[in-house]
Amino acid sequence: MSISKKEQTLLDKIQEVSLRRGFAYPTGEIYGGLSGTFDYGPLGTLMRHKLINFWREYFVKEENHFEISGAIILPEKVFKASGHVDKFNDPLVQCKKCKSMFRADKVIEDNLNQNTDGLALDELDKIIVKNKLTCPQCQGEFMDAREFNLMLKTEVGSLKGNVSYLRPETAQNIFTSFKRVSHAMRAKLPFGIAQVGKVFRNEISPRQFIIRVREFTQMELEVFFAEEQLNDPPRFEELADEVLPILTREQQDKTEEEPLLVTADDAVKKGILPNAAIAYYLVKEKIFFEEAGIKPELIRFRHMLPKETPHYSGGNFDLEVKLSIGWTEVVGNAFRQQHDLTSHEKASKTKMGIQHIAGNVIPYVVEPSIGVGRTMYCILESCYKETDDRDWTWFQFPSTISPYDVQVCPLMKKDGLEEKALEIFDDLKAEGLEAIFDSSGKIGKRYARSDEIGTPYCVTIDYDTLQDETVTIRDRDSMEQVRIHLDELTEALVLLLSGEYSFTEMDKILKEKNES
Ligand code: GAP
Repeated sequence: MSISKKEQTLLDKIQEVSLRRGFAYPTGEIYGGLSGTFDYGPLGTLMRHKLINFWREYFVKEENHFEISGAIILPEKVFKASGHVDKFNDPLVQCKKCKSMFRADKVIEDNLNQNTDGLALDELDKIIVKNKLTCPQCQGEFMDAREFNLMLKTEVGSLKGNVSYLRPETAQNIFTSFKRVSHAMRAKLPFGIAQVGKVFRNEISPRQFIIRVREFTQMELEVFFAEEQLNDPPRFEELADEVLPILTREQQDKTEEEPLLVTADDAVKKGILPNAAIAYYLVKEKIFFEEAGIKPELIRFRHMLPKETPHYSGGNFDLEVKLSIGWTEVVGNAFRQQHDLTSHEKASKTKMGIQHIAGNVIPYVVEPSIGVGRTMYCILESCYKETDDRDWTWFQFPSTISPYDVQVCPLMKKDGLEEKALEIFDDLKAEGLEAIFDSSGKIGKRYARSDEIGTPYCVTIDYDTLQDETVTIRDRDSMEQVRIHLDELTEALVLLLSGEYSFTEMDKILKEKNES
C-alpha cells in the first residue's frame, strides 16, 4: 500500500522531493543502490557548491586561514598515531540466527528510548538481555556485543600488507600537514588550516537518508593558538555580545531540552565555555547556519557529557539542529588542546612545535567540523513549506543556498518570446547569476516547479517585452510580481539576492519610478 501524503513523515516528504527533483538519490540506484551512499544530482550539487563556497568565504577567507586539499587514502601510521585504529569503534551486535548486524546502542535506543552514550560492551549486553531485545529482522537472539572499527581498510600498490585507510575525517591531513603549511606560508599563531573533502565511515546502520551515511563530505577547520591567545582570539570583541543557546551538562542531568541563552562573553566568564576562541567559533557557526536557512530556534550547542568526551578534550560542544527526528548533531566542536600535534610528534619523530614570541610551542587546537550532507538535510527540512496559498510544496531557501538564483520563462514559446527569453537567460548567466530556463507547460506550472526547488525569483518575458523591453520579476515568497526595464534587471536581481532590498521595497521603488 502506498503511503498517503498525510501519513508521510517530514523525512519521507523531503526524501521524496529530493529523489524526484534530483537533489540526492541512492548511488547505483538502477542496481538497487549501495546502503549508506548517495549521489547528489544537479540541484544537490549546485546547493553543495553554494554551501561550501559560503563556508569558504565565511570561515576561511574572512579569517585569513589556509585551505588544503589532502589525499583521501592515508597510511596506517597516521591512524595508529591518531588513535583511530584502536578506538574508532562502534558496538556491534549480530543475530545468532540470520547473522544480521546492528549497532548495539541503536537497538537499545530504538526499543527502550534509553540513552546509551559511553556505556561499555558488557553494560550494553546486560540491557539487551534484561529487556529481551531481539533481532529486528527475524526475532533471533543476539550474540555478545563486540567492537567494530568504522574505518574502511585497503591495501595500496602491488605489495601485500601495505595497509592504508580511507580517511574517516579530514582533520588528520591537516595535522600531518601542519609543519609544511606553517613553514611554507610563514604562518604566525594564531592561524587555521581548513579542508573540505570526502570521508568514509563504515557505519553499521546507515539510515535516515543523507543524515547517517558511509561516504560524506566534511568542512573542517583546525585553528591553532598559543596558550595565552585562547582567551584573546582576533576579533572576539566583534561577536562577544552575540547570544549563544547552550545546553549545559547540568541541564542535561535534569533532562532539560531547552538551552540556556547566554552571551559569548558571559559564557566564557562563567566557565560555561572553556575559552573565548571556542566561543568565537560557536557564534560564527550560529550566524552561518541561520544565514544558510536554519531557523534560530532550531539551533543549540550541547556540552557533551564526560562519558561522550575523549580524555584529551578540554570540552566538546556539538551544534545540534532540532529536526523532525529529534535533536541531531551537525557540527562537532572540540577543544582538542595539544593532543593531535603531540601524538603525531611522538609517532613520527617529527618536531611539531612552532616559533612563537620567545620560544618553540606546540599550539592548542579548536576544531569546528561541519558535515555537508547533514547541513543540507537540515536546510531542506527547515525551509520546507506547505502553505494554504499554493497547491504545491516549496522551499523557502535563502539565496545563499538556493540551487538557482532565478528562473527565466517566456510566456509562450511562439512569436519570438522564447528567443528573447533565451537572450535574457544568457545575459543573466554572463552576469554571474545561477539561472535556469523553463519554457514548457503553462506558466502557473512553471512557477510551481520553480517554487518547488526554492528558486527565489522568476523572470517572465511576455508580449510587452517585445514592445517596451520590460519583464516581470515574480517573488517566490509573496508570489507578487513587479515590472522592470531590462536595463535594470540584473542590478535589481543582485540587490534582491544580496538581501540589500526586500521585494516589497523594490516593488515600491519601481512603482514610484514607473509613475514619475
Ligand atoms: N574531526 C572531527 C570529526 O570528524 P565528528 O563529530 O565525528 O567530528 C563531524 O564529525 C561532522 O561530520 C558531524 O557533526 C556530522 O555533521 C558529520 N558526520 C559524522 N558522521 C556522519 C555520517 N555517518 N553521515 C553523515 N555525516 C556525518
